[in-house]
Amino acid sequence: MAFTIKSASDIEGMRTACRLASEVLDMLTEHVRPGVSTERLDQLAHDYIVQVQKAIPAPLNYAPPGYIPYPKSICTSVNHQICHGIPNERPLKSGDIVNVDITVIKDGWHGDTSRMFVVGDGSIAAKRLCTITYDAMWRGIAKVKPGARLGDIGHAIQTFAEGLGFSVVREFCGHGIGQKFHEEPQVLHYGRPGTLEELVPGMTFTIEPMINAGRREIRELGDGWTIVTKDRSLSAQWEHTVLVTETGYEVLTLSAGSPPPPAFISGAA
Ligand code: MF3
Ligand code: CO
Ligand code: CO
Repeated sequence: MAFTIKSASDIEGMRTACRLASEVLDMLTEHVRPGVSTERLDQLAHDYIVQVQKAIPAPLNYAPPGYIPYPKSICTSVNHQICHGIPNERPLKSGDIVNVDITVIKDGWHGDTSRMFVVGDGSIAAKRLCTITYDAMWRGIAKVKPGARLGDIGHAIQTFAEGLGFSVVREFCGHGIGQKFHEEPQVLHYGRPGTLEELVPGMTFTIEPMINAGRREIRELGDGWTIVTKDRSLSAQWEHTVLVTETGYEVLTLSAGSPPPPAFISGAA
């Protein structure tokens, strides 16, 4: 098997790292409002992770092959930015939507999660994109159980989002996660049911669909990281880290401030 299977004690490490990542988002929530810069959010998150959580912000200086080292501790992707947005001094304004993506390392284990925030008063269209993307993530999560296949997850997300007239970004995907930030397998957010890797208890991976209001094509900015929609349409993303259990799934990146699952999720996870 190309992917790692986590032992009971590995899973304890993952649970802690993942809860901490989610708690960073809880802490940031009250700060995401008109006038705050994403640079300020980065500082707040960095200090909280390092000083309060005694953990490490995984993005800082992260440099996968072909990339320059990432310069900040969190990713903030505003409006038509799809992912990997670099925090900067520009203040957020009412009506913006922003994805805040947090990855922490605690005792060698990674927890990776992101949420959308609507700054001030958002348009109906912007709020709808964020809600539908959240539901799309959960449509994927709901497929997770032993014997299911990665293609089932991608298919559930793709059919849901495209059925509502939105598009799914293809170039970036979810990923296995553990002692490495990005492990096998790749978790595509589109696909065909019954295809690709079979899920096995003890696997941990992220599901993190990027959904565009317009076309799915992307463009990379000159900073070497930020990905935007080619047509400049709005884009949203949510991310959870999940564990495959004997009977289904456990969402690891939950904390007191996590939004509740959509109504179509029946508590028994
Ligand atoms: N957190 C992102 C993910 O979900 C990866 C960010 S890489 C960084 O996979 F270097 F930009 F932080
Ligand atoms: Co991720
Ligand atoms: Co992430």
